[in-house]
Amino acid sequence: MPGLLIEGAVSVATMAGGLRRGAAQADAAVLTGPGLAIAAWRSRILAVGSRDDVHRQIAADGYPLEAFERLDAAGGLVTPGLVDAHTHLVFAGTREVEWQMRTHGAGYLEILAAGGGILSTVAATRAASDEELLTGARRRLAEMLANGTTTAEAKSGYGLDVVTELRLLEVIGRLGGEGPVQLVPTFLGAHAVPAEYRGRPNGTDAYVASVIDDQLPQVARQGIARFCDVFCETGVFDAAQTGRILRAAAGHGLARRIHADELAPSGGAELAAETGCLSADHLAAASEEGIAALVRVADSGHPVVATLLPATSWFLGQHHFAPARRFIDAGVSVALATDLNPGTSPTVSLPLVMSIACVEMGLTPAEALAGITINAAHSLGLDSEIGSIEPGKQADLVIWDVSTLEQIPYWLGSNRIRAVVKRGATVVTRA
Ligand code: NIG
Ligand code: FE
Repeated sequence: MPGLLIEGAVSVATMAGGLRRGAAQADAAVLTGPGLAIAAWRSRILAVGSRDDVHRQIAADGYPLEAFERLDAAGGLVTPGLVDAHTHLVFAGTREVEWQMRTHGAGYLEILAAGGGILSTVAATRAASDEELLTGARRRLAEMLANGTTTAEAKSGYGLDVVTELRLLEVIGRLGGEGPVQLVPTFLGAHAVPAEYRGRPNGTDAYVASVIDDQLPQVARQGIARFCDVFCETGVFDAAQTGRILRAAAGHGLARRIHADELAPSGGAELAAETGCLSADHLAAASEEGIAALVRVADSGHPVVATLLPATSWFLGQHHFAPARRFIDAGVSVALATDLNPGTSPTVSLPLVMSIACVEMGLTPAEALAGITINAAHSLGLDSEIGSIEPGKQADLVIWDVSTLEQIPYWLGSNRIRAVVKRGATVVTRA
């Protein structure tokens, strides 16, 4: 049926009102009442409010009530579909051995420098067939959807050569076409220096040149990637190298985001502000100057969203998290994401990320919810389409088995989802 009518909700966190920053990050624009309803026609939201108001709106717009499939929210909460703005969705292999080495004292960058870490996933990914990559990623996408994610960013970055980077973007493009999870493809050719460039004199600069001169032009010609990302980190790519890549990407019409200051301050946050990135990600080790740079652009026409990845800090066993409270209190918009990847964050669950953000970063559940809906949508340049429940926007919704948004992160590690709707179609239902 072309219409969808959700009835019987007691709470709707609409997230209406655009990008959240400062005190507004805590405003989930919640409607409460005994019988709230949401109507969608085809892929778009038609109305949200009391049952009577929504029925009146349907009649006023001339839609026949019989053309609406009914979905019972059964006294639960409805939120926008969740938006995961940072994932490394497509990869082969697993890294549980390295994870155990880390829990016994080895460092993440130390393992990478010894040819493990990202590079072991690169070796497995290069050796995998398209079919194997598709199968692994489809399984993760199904789990993401079951946990409420209706849109996700997805990076390449485990190819590190022209052929495999293009192949990964092709796979991401195919998976996005299959749906129902909507994907935003990001080119991350500068995720690490591959083995064949290590040990060469100026190997990192030579690889940066190949990213700019060989990979980027072909990625742009392929036309799948929307963003370019770089792992800007001490011992990986420095700020000057990252800046060269991001400026070249801008020249090819790609939007920008950065892995910035994850483990040590390396000028990533400053560069994000300078190069017009929509998002600076990680920021667990951002410097005072970096924080100040994000604050300076926060109320300009081009704010950089601070996309924080607390599951990564937690899974790395760090006791130091990104200064989320400082960002919010200083007026920097905060998003949260899983960073789904086989090395530092093998999780698909945004509700779990919310829980960690509340416990370890001191966010309130409402602030965390803004981080995985409207602010994440903004960081992907999709805020006019997704991230809030407002008439005219895409009908991407999660119907929860709980009655307050605070209960989403409270039920630690539990799946409290009753149904998921993507573009007006019910794509998950749970008993
Ligand atoms: O965001 N830090 C770089 N990239 C990922 C980790 C990727 C990996 O270890 O495979 C991250 O944490
Ligand atoms: Fe990452």
